Amino acid sequence: MPFRTTVITGATSGIGKETALALAKIDHALYLLVRDVQKGEALKKELIAASGNRSIFVVHCDLADMQSVVNAANELKGKLFAINVLINNAGGINAKRQESADGVELTFAMNHLGHFVLTMNLMPLLQKGQARVINVSSEAHKAARPQYLNDIQFSNDYSPIKAYGLAKLCNIYFTLALAERYGNLGITAYALHPGVVSTAFWKDAGFWGNILSWLARPFMISAEKGAQTSIFLAGAVKLSPKLNGQYFKKGEVTKTTLAAQNASARNKLWQISEQMAAPFLPAL
Ligand SMILES: NC(=O)c1ccc[n+]([C@@H]2O[C@H](COP(=O)([O-])OP(=O)(O)OC[C@H]3O[C@@H](n4cnc5c(N)ncnc54)[C@H](OP(=O)(O)O)[C@@H]3O)[C@@H](O)[C@H]2O)c1
Repeated sequence: MPFRTTVITGATSGIGKETALALAKIDHALYLLVRDVQKGEALKKELIAASGNRSIFVVHCDLADMQSVVNAANELKGKLFAINVLINNAGGINAKRQESADGVELTFAMNHLGHFVLTMNLMPLLQKGQARVINVSSEAHKAARPQYLNDIQFSNDYSPIKAYGLAKLCNIYFTLALAERYGNLGITAYALHPGVVSTAFWKDAGFWGNILSWLARPFMISAEKGAQTSIFLAGAVKLSPKLNGQYFKKGEVTKTTLAAQNASARNKLWQISEQMAAPFLPAL
C-alpha cells in the first residue's frame, strides 16, 4: 500500500524531479503531470529504477493550456478515489512577453492560473484525501506590488522580473486563500521558497537574469537541496494546524512582506482567477 497519493507538476526537471525522487523512495504513489509525455515516461523509468516504487504514473498536462489542465484533472478523477498531496511546482520566468494557449500572459498562466484551474478541478479528490496543497513560490515575490494585479496581462509594461514577481506573489495569495476557504473541509496549503537553485529555470531569464544568475552561480544550491522544503511538507507524518497557509524557507515558517499578507489583494486575485478561468472551472 502506498504511503500517500501525490500529484506533482514540473517533475521533469530541477526541483520537481528531486522532490519526486525523494517521495518515490518513501512510497508515495506519484502522478507526474507533464507537458512532454516522452520526458515524463523517461522520468518514470528513472524513478522506478532508483526507488523500486512501481506506483508511478504519467499524465499529460500543459499548465499554459486550461483545457489540457481540465483533461488532466478528469483523467485523475477517473483513476483515483483521493489525493493526499498536490505539489504545484512547475513554473518559470520568460525573458519576453508571451501568451498561453488561452491568450493569458505566459508567466501568470504557467505559474498561477494553470495551478488554480488544476486545484479547483481536483477539489473533490483533495477533500477526500484531506490533502496538503504545496505551492512552490519564490523570494522574488518580494519585488512585486499588489497594484500589479491591475494589469495582470502586463500588456503595456512587461518586464520578466515584474511578471515573475507577481506570479510568485500570486502563489502566496492562493495558498492563504485556500487555507481560509477550504481549511474547514480539511485541506491545508503551504507556500515555499526553495532557495536559489541551479536548474534549467535560469535559461529563460533574459539579459539581466543571465547576469544575475552568472553572479549568483557560485552561491546556488543543488536541485536536491532546493527540493528539501517541498519534501518535508509532502512527507512529514503530521504538520501542526498552525502551519496552514504559511510561507516556508529552509523547512521553517518565514515572514512574508506586508504586500503578501494583503487580504483585499488576495480576494482580488481569487476573483480575477475565477473570471479568467470561468469556462474551465467546475460548477460549485
Ligand atoms: N531555480 C530557482 O532558483 C528557483 C527559485 C525560486 C523558485 N523557483 C521555483 O521552483 C519551481 C521549479 O523550478 P526549477 O528551478 O526546478 O525549474 P526547471 O528546472 O526549469 O523546472 C521547471 C519545470 O516546470 C515545467 N513546466 C514549465 N512550464 C510548464 C507548463 N506550461 N506546463 C507543465 N509544466 C511546465 C517544466 O517542464 P519541461 O521539463 O517540459 O520544461 C519543468 O518540469 C518553479 O515554480 C520556480 O518558479 C525556482
